[in-house]
Amino acid sequence: MQVQLIKRRDKQKPTRGSTREGNMDPSQEERFAFLAEWYDPNAALLRQYQFLFYPKDRSVEMFDMKNHRTFLRRTKYDDINLQDLFVGNRLNVFSRQLHLIEYGDQYTASKLGSRKEKTLAMIKPDATDKMGTIIQLIYDAGLTVTKAKMTALSRKEAMDFYAEHQSKSFFNNLVQFVTSGPVVAMEILGDEAVTAWRRLLGPTDSSVARNEAPDSVRANFGTDGTKNAGHGSDSLASAARELEFFFPSTGRGPSNTAKYSDCTCCLIKPHAIAEGLTGKIFNAISDAGFKISALQMFNMDRANAEEFYEIYKGVVAEYTGMVAELCSGPCMALEIHGSEAPKTFREFCGPADPEIARHLRPHTLRAVFGKNKVQNAVHCTDLPDDGILEVQYFFKILDG
Ligand code: RTP
Ligand code: MG
Repeated sequence: MQVQLIKRRDKQKPTRGSTREGNMDPSQEERFAFLAEWYDPNAALLRQYQFLFYPKDRSVEMFDMKNHRTFLRRTKYDDINLQDLFVGNRLNVFSRQLHLIEYGDQYTASKLGSRKEKTLAMIKPDATDKMGTIIQLIYDAGLTVTKAKMTALSRKEAMDFYAEHQSKSFFNNLVQFVTSGPVVAMEILGDEAVTAWRRLLGPTDSSVARNEAPDSVRANFGTDGTKNAGHGSDSLASAARELEFFFPSTGRGPSNTAKYSDCTCCLIKPHAIAEGLTGKIFNAISDAGFKISALQMFNMDRANAEEFYEIYKGVVAEYTGMVAELCSGPCMALEIHGSEAPKTFREFCGPADPEIARHLRPHTLRAVFGKNKVQNAVHCTDLPDDGILEVQYFFKILDG
């Protein structure tokens, strides 16, 4: 990567919101400002920065908020795109995972923030085997999955979640249906996400959907008025409440569905998630006959990534790169279930180097979705005996 240092224009020390409020002075170069957090594992501290992005030459600049000093001088960084810049997103900047937590000035908020929304999408029990295709539709619509968890709702959880419908005639059927098998809850983020996701779902009744919106999720994967493949929050207020239900800021929320037996662990790596490959990889896994029995997205910090890859330290030349990749953005942990899964799933992932995989085993996950030895799309458990341990690491220890 080419790194080029550019002298700053003004000498005034910028503070949050101190410059470029309201309409921007046309004589000044456009820049976007954010408050960003980064967890420094060495100091065990959450550090705050003012993060600036200059679209003209795609350069970034960072100021340490606490110590009032420049942390990163203005530096060209081609890996960031304007569409990555919104509150709630995580960015990988020189191997640090920054969490954008606030807009730094009104100009940035009004230009970049106005239409971004989060909503809760739930794939209902009748459509979890179609989740790859549904996730692909979400990405094709320009939306992103930022949290995900497979869970089996208890009767009480389902009644709480649907409390607004408790007086309706269909309430019992609805509770019965959503507890009939696992569901996949997802936080979806993007422009007007609440309506965009409900548009993808189509009309509530699947038979109406087949007439009025034949390409919709419910038209394709639902059965009737109750068994209708998916749920979407109906307003921003419902979205906030429903996201808190599945992904509470204070605790762990509904339990995951890991079984911890006859299983192996698969991780979809951050680069593959960022490239929007999640749905395609899910489809490839189920088309090959494997069963995903648990699923959850995690944001690994460096300490977690080092701990998880401990056995490769000093053994695999790519260890450092593997750690950096794993904590560069969200990853998706899967439990793959089946008595032969530890052996057969590893074969299905293919050789660790995608180049070699493309020559020797062109239909494997790494051959199809991998880029290089570090960004090779998926991790899978190496030794059959470690399958349960790796699944436990994610679904028992990190989902705490
Ligand atoms: P959702 O909440 O699941 O996104 O669906 P929605 O807004 O389109 O529909 P809503 O009126 O909120 O109903 C919630 C869910 O209850 C079931 N239902 N069954 N007449 C019936 O049998 C009936 N009506 C509604 C559906 O599963 C619906 O999605
Ligand atoms: Mg509703």
